[in-house]
Amino acid sequence: MSLPAPRPDRTCLVTGASSGIGEEIAGLLAARGLGVTLVARSETKLLELAGGLAARHGVRVEVLPTDLTDSDARSALPGRVAELGLEVNVLVNNAGFSTLGTVYRADPDREIAMVRTDVEAVVHLCALFTPGMVERRSGCVLNVASTAAFQPIPGQAGYGASKAFVLSYTHAIRVELRPHGVTATVLCPGPVDTGFGEAAGFDPEEVATLMPQFFWESAADVAKAGVDGMDANRAVVIPGLPNRVSARAAWLSPRRVLLPMLAKVHPGMRDG
Ligand SMILES: NC(=O)c1ccc[n+]([C@@H]2O[C@H](COP(=O)([O-])OP(=O)(O)OC[C@H]3O[C@@H](n4cnc5c(N)ncnc54)[C@H](OP(=O)(O)O)[C@@H]3O)[C@@H](O)[C@H]2O)c1
Repeated sequence: MSLPAPRPDRTCLVTGASSGIGEEIAGLLAARGLGVTLVARSETKLLELAGGLAARHGVRVEVLPTDLTDSDARSALPGRVAELGLEVNVLVNNAGFSTLGTVYRADPDREIAMVRTDVEAVVHLCALFTPGMVERRSGCVLNVASTAAFQPIPGQAGYGASKAFVLSYTHAIRVELRPHGVTATVLCPGPVDTGFGEAAGFDPEEVATLMPQFFWESAADVAKAGVDGMDANRAVVIPGLPNRVSARAAWLSPRRVLLPMLAKVHPGMRDG
């Protein structure tokens, strides 16, 4: 098993832990007796969750409110963790969001904020926290991508490309880290009913028509697949058979055939 045994001086840092998949992942790690450090912007929500997790599982839960688009705030994280007398031996890069719509109609600042959260923060936190893991010859990284990683997405161009980055990046660091006793796994969920869709601006009814029910997984099931996959040292975890089949098909499809079909139905291409 890859997940380290609980130790009072070690913690699992989970980004995007204030809701959805990240909240569930933090809960599963705490249920295994591991201390967790919750990172997101919503301090009140994190404090509430921390109190519940500590009471339910008897583990140490810390809260580090952080805006992950802010490079200085990211740089400060190792120091803030060290001040708590902790070392990070499990890093879960889960925080993320998507914009919706064509690039030429997009708000440039929002596009950049997405890349900072979905890509830059993943790279920055891996670079900040894996050196300690390598030194200790122990640790696990779980990066959350998406089935959006397996093909370009007209109407969500920046999001698809960001998740393709996370998929490629995690494959590569997995090989770099392996000789040093550290693992890296990438979790690629299909659609999950969290605040994600609404935050992106999807119409739930339209999404339900485009994405049949059999593709949908609960945040709890996705989190369990991710934590179990990390523990089993899997390279890629795609929760749900229909998502595994469609990701494989998308990966293998010629772009000139697939992309016009996607563009025709994608809500982000409306009025585009
Ligand atoms: N839901 C889906 O259909 C789906 C499918 C595939 C992949 N994913 C991926 O799964 C991950 C989790 O998404 P979710 O579905 O659980 O959505 P969610 O419920 O909206 O959670 C997103 C999390 O990211 C945090 N976050 C966003 N911007 C942040 C920032 N600038 N700084 C710090 N934290 C930030 C949010 O916390 P605060 O707002 O408190 O900062 C929240 O905890 C994302 O990477 C997403 O791309 C989701």
